[in-house]
Amino acid sequence: MRIVLCYPVEPKHLAEIAATAPDADLIDAGQERIAAEILEADIYCGHAKVHPLPWDEVVRQGRLRWIQSSAAGLDHCLTPSVVASPIVVTSASGVLADQVAEHALALITGLLRSLPVFFRAQQRKEFIRRPTRDLHRATIGIVGFGGNGRRLAEVLRVFKGRILATDVFPDDKPEYVEALWPAERLHDLLAVSDIVILAAPLTDATRGMIDAAALACMKPGAILVNMARGPLVIEPALVEALTSGRLAGAGLDVTAVEPLPPESPLWDLPNVLITPHVGGQSATRIDDMTQFFCENLRRWLTNRPLLNLVDKRLGFPRSRFGDPSGR
Ligand code: GLV
Repeated sequence: MRIVLCYPVEPKHLAEIAATAPDADLIDAGQERIAAEILEADIYCGHAKVHPLPWDEVVRQGRLRWIQSSAAGLDHCLTPSVVASPIVVTSASGVLADQVAEHALALITGLLRSLPVFFRAQQRKEFIRRPTRDLHRATIGIVGFGGNGRRLAEVLRVFKGRILATDVFPDDKPEYVEALWPAERLHDLLAVSDIVILAAPLTDATRGMIDAAALACMKPGAILVNMARGPLVIEPALVEALTSGRLAGAGLDVTAVEPLPPESPLWDLPNVLITPHVGGQSATRIDDMTQFFCENLRRWLTNRPLLNLVDKRLGFPRSRFGDPSGR
């Protein structure tokens, strides 16, 4: 059995994986060699970021049996050919949720406490006072209540506001979430939220969900934070909502095109905080990912249900514990 990796492992991670599957050949392909190595893989764990992988060829060959994505998002591997194939896919949903929650908090509080204004004043050595806003007692709307959305709600509950959420499977509402609505009620959520956080996967159903009509539903002065994938948002419509003053600000860890091109008007908007898709970064990211992969590898080797088994037609896992009937 050949296990091919494409995430930044160190020798200690390779040792951990080798100890979990002592009979396997372990290949640390890295970003440069993965497009070739994937063709010789039985199991693949990673996220190819530099070169797109030849998924159609991988499927045609029929050797690859399992993809463990090292990202929560699966848009990098769920091509139509992979979806139609027998390849099993598992995601890293929840593995990076602590960091995503911290980063969302940074963007939200940064915008509400006017940090972009004060930072620009600091660079000019100007001691100016300007209005700020409160996160406490705000109504927060979370779009997508999977691993990241749920962790966000847990963290944000201390701010004593209302927390609302939408999800394709609106089950298991924690008591500190006031309402968990089906995904079709997105516009209801937008209409009452002071802060809207996007934590939904990119699928055919979510692509472009924040369009001009959705933005027009949002409360005047609301803030939009995107921790998910850029193509969820129609960027020209967002720019219009931000320049017209309808939205007070946006925090964008992701954009439709990454890197965000220099000519994007988003760079110059004073009420936008942009970070370069670093929400999941963490000093322990590779350790945590390796631990998660090894747990799933043990399950794979002993024919037990995998964690975060993806329903490939939906584009995300329905259950962290592999039971498609519920969470
Ligand atoms: C990062 O964007 C991830 O999907 O984990």
